Amino acid sequence: MSLNPDGLPVAVVTGASRGLGKATAEALARQGYHVIMLCRDVRDAAEHAMGLSHAGFSVEPRKVDVASSAEVSSVTKHITEEYGQVDLLVNNAGVFLEASAEGTDDPLRVSVTAVMQTFNVNAMGAMRLIQAVVPLMREGGRIVNVSSGMGRFSEIEGNYLGYRMSKTAMNGLTAVYAEALQSRGITVNAVCPGWVRTDMGGAQAERDIAEGIDTILWLATSDEATGASGGFYRDRKLLPW
Ligand SMILES: NC(=O)c1ccc[n+]([C@@H]2O[C@H](COP(=O)([O-])OP(=O)(O)OC[C@H]3O[C@@H](n4cnc5c(N)ncnc54)[C@H](OP(=O)(O)O)[C@@H]3O)[C@@H](O)[C@H]2O)c1
Repeated sequence: MSLNPDGLPVAVVTGASRGLGKATAEALARQGYHVIMLCRDVRDAAEHAMGLSHAGFSVEPRKVDVASSAEVSSVTKHITEEYGQVDLLVNNAGVFLEASAEGTDDPLRVSVTAVMQTFNVNAMGAMRLIQAVVPLMREGGRIVNVSSGMGRFSEIEGNYLGYRMSKTAMNGLTAVYAEALQSRGITVNAVCPGWVRTDMGGAQAERDIAEGIDTILWLATSDEATGASGGFYRDRKLLPW
């Protein structure tokens, strides 16, 4: 593990302003990481970050829209200059535009633009962060991609084309980077948090946020998951793609 000036390992979490990303960032800070909370608008994380800092935890909100290569570059420069290393990357930021009020679940009507926007955040966002952060990772570094069962071929249904394809792509890039980074001792896994009560999941969802982040944290930090790479997990169990 690398150490920041306060002697803490460094974690980067995308989409840390709310939902699963916010809770993951807090849980990692409580576990002793210095957490760089990446948010589209830092003001959305400022209050939460301040509360955590006042409680003695080490967090740092930074502005990053994962759809912007320039913003990813800029934060990478900061992390490189400030810490020189990253131990953990959680690619959590995601959108589900087809489930929004303006969206449609119909694959015959969804616009190419909406599908491409979804891809650019959910899949290419993870790719941008991996390409940026891996040069700062050492052996033992972990990458956790927050995916979805909706991207598994075995769970495919005839709706939500863009979201499903973006998560299938995320699963694909998880497998490719796991192979590519094996020789460097960096692990890469995908996780389905289940259907969780967040803004995205809605009030009817089955799980609370604590249940939703359990496998994310398990892959990110547990000894049990050490060395596991190239897998898709739900409820701490390895599932077929
Ligand atoms: N909730 C579920 O049932 C469920 C199920 C399976 C998978 N997931 C996955 O879990 C992850 C987190 O979902 P959630 O339920 O916590 O959703 P959420 O409450 O809607 O939060 C989404 C987060 O992603 C951020 N985000 C969106 N676009 C971004 C961008 N371009 N750049 C940076 N951040 C961006 C949002 O930031 P802003 O605040 O700026 O919008 C927010 O912090 C997603 O990848 C989602 O696909 C969720």
